[in-house]
Amino acid sequence: MNNFKYLNQELFAENVSVTQLAKQFGTPLYIYSKNYIEQQWLAFDQALAGRKHLVCYAMKANSNLAVLNILAKLGAGFDIVSQGELERVLAAGGDAGKVVFSGVAKTEAEIARALEVGVRCFNVESIPELYRINEVAKRLNKKAPVSLRINPDVDAKTHPYISTGMKENKFGISYEIALEVYKEASRLSHLSVEGIDCHIGSQLTELTPFLDAADRVLALVDSLEKEGIHIHHLDFGGGLGVCYNDEVPPTPAEFVKAILKKVENYPHLEILFEPGRAIVANAGLLVTHIEYLKHHEDNHFAIVDAGMNDLIRPALYESWMKIIPVSQKTNQAQSYVYNVVGPVCESSDFLGKQRELAVEAGDYLAVCSAGAYGFGMASNYNSRPKPAEIMVDGNKAYVIRQREKYTDLWAGEQLIG
Ligand code: LLP
Repeated sequence: MNNFKYLNQELFAENVSVTQLAKQFGTPLYIYSKNYIEQQWLAFDQALAGRKHLVCYAMKANSNLAVLNILAKLGAGFDIVSQGELERVLAAGGDAGKVVFSGVAKTEAEIARALEVGVRCFNVESIPELYRINEVAKRLNKKAPVSLRINPDVDAKTHPYISTGMKENKFGISYEIALEVYKEASRLSHLSVEGIDCHIGSQLTELTPFLDAADRVLALVDSLEKEGIHIHHLDFGGGLGVCYNDEVPPTPAEFVKAILKKVENYPHLEILFEPGRAIVANAGLLVTHIEYLKHHEDNHFAIVDAGMNDLIRPALYESWMKIIPVSQKTNQAQSYVYNVVGPVCESSDFLGKQRELAVEAGDYLAVCSAGAYGFGMASNYNSRPKPAEIMVDGNKAYVIRQREKYTDLWAGEQLIG
């Protein structure tokens, strides 16, 4: 259950009225539930009890320092893909020793910084990257812990833009050559081979692709053993889907249980996961204000103050995200099937299409499940300041990021003379 509920026809985030937050802090406004974030991370962690494990939150889903700090306090690890993300983890009080570093384009500087602070493992995505990490480690007189990200060539059956584990994707090292690459890695003087990593895509709503990938990973463990290469952990990545509309994905507990069953004959291996969306998507809302209603013959538009720069998922992936009124008290308004569109000058600037709503100009709407890949993908397109972010904890609300000011828009810019 998520923590956004109607009480007397008014939407609440935990125990705080969403209307009140929108009036106090303005819109567009991201609102998160602390309790939900904790509950979701703990669902993974507790399902793994009894087995050596680490749940590394994939912070690209939502990298606000307050979110990271809440998870760090629970003992979370972090999956990062850039030095910027690493610096955020450190700034939020996270433990570098629980960080796994994924990403296809790690620079020398990023590798050096990660070695300096002592990350838990590099998830290596190519052969040249393996050599580069070895060289940087040699220069710094360190041994770099590495895992190879294997591309198991399974179809995650999700949107092609968020599918990563097929041959045509740029991610990982192809399964066919994995054994050879492991042999090479174990020959390199400044690497320590720690594990196998695999992440096949995002918003997966079925277990089968995960289990197929796990089979391939375990077959590789066996081949490595035969070669005398003993690894210490298996990282199954992230990707567990959430309910945006009527999807019924496995719960974190069901998902973990199914994977644990697969690995029961490998009790010595520590199990890592990198969930992002499953932890934060349904912890968040984007609240927006209806500026105008526009009726054009058969087309009805609810023109709102949040656009694709604030939440790009509908524009980029045609993602369907639920849109609900913040107050149900205006239910007596005439109902129309609306396209909910933003202020940005692009036809793809919509938050939802064909939504039946009984609303009036001046009402607030909430876009649900916006806690993942919402603010983190926001931009300043059309010179629009990024929204504020609020964390609700019980009956308290904290500003965890100020709304950007107009002067922030050109900070760092300079005239030429
Ligand atoms: N690990 C790696 C290596 C990843 O690339 C990702 C996501 C994750 C973990 C976390 O996956 P999750 O548990 O969140 O599914 N912007 C897109 C999603 C892109 C996901 C990219 N990688 C969206 O809004 O749907």
